[in-house]
Amino acid sequence: MATALALSMLTIYFAAAALSPSITSASKAVKYSVSSYGAKPDDKTDSTNAFLTAWNKACSSPSPSTVYVPAGRFYLKNVAFQGPCKTKSIMFRIDGTLVAPSDYSVIAKVGNWILFRHVNGVIVSGGTLDGQGASLWSCKAAGKSCPAGARNKMIFVCCQNLEFSNSQNVQINGLTSVNSQLFHIVINGCQNVKVKGVKVTAAGHSPNTDGIHVQSSAGVTILNSRIGTGDDCISIGPGTTNLWIENIACGPGHGISIGSLGKQLHEAGVQNVTVKTVTFTGTQNGLRIKSWGRPSTGFARGILFQHAVMNNVQNPIVIDQNYCPGQKGCPGQASGVKVSDVTYQDVHGSSRTEVAVKFACSKSNPCTGIRLDGVKLTYENQAADSSCQNADGTASGVVQPSSCL
Ligand SMILES: *[C@@H]1O[C@H](CO)[C@@H](O)[C@H](O)[C@H]1NC(C)=O
Repeated sequence: MATALALSMLTIYFAAAALSPSITSASKAVKYSVSSYGAKPDDKTDSTNAFLTAWNKACSSPSPSTVYVPAGRFYLKNVAFQGPCKTKSIMFRIDGTLVAPSDYSVIAKVGNWILFRHVNGVIVSGGTLDGQGASLWSCKAAGKSCPAGARNKMIFVCCQNLEFSNSQNVQINGLTSVNSQLFHIVINGCQNVKVKGVKVTAAGHSPNTDGIHVQSSAGVTILNSRIGTGDDCISIGPGTTNLWIENIACGPGHGISIGSLGKQLHEAGVQNVTVKTVTFTGTQNGLRIKSWGRPSTGFARGILFQHAVMNNVQNPIVIDQNYCPGQKGCPGQASGVKVSDVTYQDVHGSSRTEVAVKFACSKSNPCTGIRLDGVKLTYENQAADSSCQNADGTASGVVQPSSCL
């Protein structure tokens, strides 16, 4: 009896298992190591095709899969890991370093170095991306005509270290990104992305090497990361909603910036952004909102900056709506970007310039609902200054420099 019962239960178990393969296989992902397809950790063999083969196998697997990159330095040219995939669970586990060509012209024709596109449920875990940006930086420093440029920030030319575009349910965990040619990590057109424990490093003088750039995306979370680079530590572009940033160390770099917004006449706004528990060290800006001085449908609203420490920051709190690089196409115009409902709560530390709080808002679209709650910023150990143009709002708690709202 007992045996018969046990047997029939086993039969039921297997029948159920056969009907739902995803349940039985969830614990055991199929693993595709790039080494099995010819990748060599020798810093010079072109491993691009081996990575692509491993990806294509993982992507077409019906059950959860893993792409595995062992220790060592793998030389890669531009590579696009493309979905949609059969499985909704791909772990991209990196123990080693991915190395870009040191001559930027090798990958300059394509906008990205490592690109994930149209994927769902991808986790990138560990590893280092070495963008070898120095040759492009010196090209720019020499004032030559090089791929990409500051004026073209929103049109990506060459070359982000890592971009996720038009993807869902993505995680980037414990990744190190060094010396990218352009932005380090770009999240573009995505939903539900978690970036955790990331480390970004590039020289403080390296041009346009933003740490993490988010745009046209909803539900992005960036946690527990350390970013030192030559441009914004985190930049937030048009069409970003429900963004959460917490526990970030920024410096060197240009700070955390919403913008530049309003470059385009028809542009999606930025809404519901929380930036919490951040430390800025020696940065050009701290908490910044920046828009072009020209007409636009763009906006920034529902922004909370909370618990920020400024260590010797040039412009700790700044809204600048008069951005007009090179004075081309905007002089004399007002920004169409409406900035509203922005709270600065518990922001303290030291400013490297006298004006620690600066609200230079648009004369056609003044800032409204700016709230200062517990702000204490010093300049050379004394109270700093604040400056307001077209800015309306309230102050509560200790506010130093005293509010000009
Ligand atoms: C704002 O964004 C957070 C995530 O950052 C989300 O949890 C919250 O629900 C959003 N609030 C609204 C009103 O959409």
